[in-house]
Amino acid sequence: MNISKKAENTAPSETLAISAKCKELKNQGLDVVNLSVGEPDFDTPQHIKDAAISAINKGFTKYTDASGILELKEAIAKKLLEDNGLKYEPQQIVVSSGAKHSIYNSLLALCDPGDEVLIPTPYWVSYCEMVKLAGGIPVVLPTDEDTLKLTPQDLEKAVSSKTKGIILNSPQNPAGIVYSEDELLGLAVVIKEKGLWVISDEVYERFVYDGNKHISIATLIPDQTIVINGTSKTYSMTGWRIGYTAGNINVIKAISRIQSQTTSNPCSISQYAAIAAITGQQECVNEMRVEFDKRRRFMADRLNNIHGLSCKMPEGAFYLFCNIKALSLSSEEFSARLLEKAQVAVVPGKAFGTEGFIRISYATSLPCLEKAGDRIQEAVKSL
Ligand SMILES: Cc1ncc(COP(=O)(O)O)c(C=O)c1O
Repeated sequence: MNISKKAENTAPSETLAISAKCKELKNQGLDVVNLSVGEPDFDTPQHIKDAAISAINKGFTKYTDASGILELKEAIAKKLLEDNGLKYEPQQIVVSSGAKHSIYNSLLALCDPGDEVLIPTPYWVSYCEMVKLAGGIPVVLPTDEDTLKLTPQDLEKAVSSKTKGIILNSPQNPAGIVYSEDELLGLAVVIKEKGLWVISDEVYERFVYDGNKHISIATLIPDQTIVINGTSKTYSMTGWRIGYTAGNINVIKAISRIQSQTTSNPCSISQYAAIAAITGQQECVNEMRVEFDKRRRFMADRLNNIHGLSCKMPEGAFYLFCNIKALSLSSEEFSARLLEKAQVAVVPGKAFGTEGFIRISYATSLPCLEKAGDRIQEAVKSL
C-alpha cells in the first residue's frame, strides 16, 4: 500500500526531531543542554490549573460548540479590543487546538489548488508544509540581508496573478524580529492594493523588549487580516492546545465548518483554563517576560564574545538568531558538530529557510545558558 503524495511530500518538523534526539541522548546518560526548544520553561500558572480542575469537577468534560464556547470567545473579543485595539464580535472568532491548528484551518479555508502563499524568510518551520497540505504553493520570499525584514518593494515584486495571501509573523520566530507600525503600514499598502489575505501570526505578542510594541496589522487592514493567537506561549500552556483565529465572518464560518467536520471542539477543559488565563491576573506574563529579557541580554552578550559568532539583539519572542557565516560551515553541519562535541542542541537556520545562522532558544534557565555559552566557546575553538 502506498502512502499519498501529500504525505510523502511533507517534511517532518525539524525542531521536534531535534528535541527527540536530545531526549534520546539524555536517556543514554549524556548531559545535553537543549537550546532547541520552542516553549517557555515555566510551569503553567496555578490559577489556570485551578480553573481546569474546577472545570473537570463541574463536569465540563463533554463536547462543546465545535468552534469553541461562547464565554471564551467573549473573553478573546475583549482581549483583542483592550490589548490590540481590534473590534470583533464573538461570532468572528473560532477556537482551535493550538495556534498551529488555527493557521492550518485558515489555510484550508483560503487556498484553492495552485494558489500561492507568500512566506518571508526566515520563517517558522511549519508554514511551508501547512500551505502544501492545504493545496497551496508556498513562495518563499528573501528578506533584507541585514534586517531580515520584508520590505514593501520586495513584497510587491513577489506578487503574481496566483498570489492569494501572505503569512506574517511578528514578533517572529526564529529571529525575534518585531515589525514597527510604519513598517507594517508600508506592507499594508501593498497588501491592500493587491487584494491579498494576511494570516498574522501573533503568538509571541507579549514577549517584546526594550520598549518595543507589538502592533497587529489587523489595525491597518482589518478586512484582509486573519489574526492568529493562542495561550501556548503567553501563559506557558503549550500542552493544553488552545489557539484562536479572528477575522472576516465568512472566513470564520468556513473555518468553523472545516473544524466541525475534522477535529470538533478543542479540549473542553483547556477552554475553561484559557478563560482563566485570558481574563485573570497578567502579572504572571510580566514575570516571564522580565526573566526572558534577562536571559536574552545575557546570551546575546555571551555569543557576541565568541570569536566567529555574532548575533543581533532580538526585539521579541525568546530566540536568538546567531550568525555563523564566519565559520564557513553549513548551519546543519555546525549544529550537528555542536551536539556531538559539546552536547548543546540548537536548530540550523536552514530549517527556517535561512542559511548561515543557528537558532538558540533562551527559554531555559540562566545556569543552563551559562553552561551552554562555555561549551559553545570551547567547541568553536576546536572546529
Ligand atoms: C511562530 C509560531 N506560530 C505558531 C506556533 C504554534 O503554537 P501552538 O502551540 O499554539 O500551536 C509556534 C510554536 O512554536 C510558533 O513559533
